[in-house]
Amino acid sequence: MREVARIPLAQLMEATVVRASYPPRDICVVWVGGEAYAIEDTCSHGEASLSRGRVRGYSIACPAHGYVFSLLTGERSAPRIAGESLCNRQKRYITRVEGEEVVILEPSPVELIP
Ligand code: FES
Repeated sequence: MREVARIPLAQLMEATVVRASYPPRDICVVWVGGEAYAIEDTCSHGEASLSRGRVRGYSIACPAHGYVFSLLTGERSAPRIAGESLCNRQKRYITRVEGEEVVILEPSPVELIP
């Protein structure tokens, strides 16, 4: 795992959704249920910014066409489309609160996210 971004915890708690810089696709960080979740910000469907979307429970809806992605897994939960497509899932990141900051970590390809 390697650290790729940090954001202030207070900023995230106040805003609920923060876009963390990690070019080229950045990271959408969401505060829900007392924890931080992070998935790739650039929507795999049409490249809109998920951090401008609406949070619904542990999911976020893309502002462009309404595709819904799980914050827990990064997978698209709606609409349901049979078969594989390029927009099935968003990359997921690990988050850890350290003092007054949320640290965002990128897992190595062989690590599994618990
Ligand atoms: S760009 Fe996100 S659903 Fe189309």
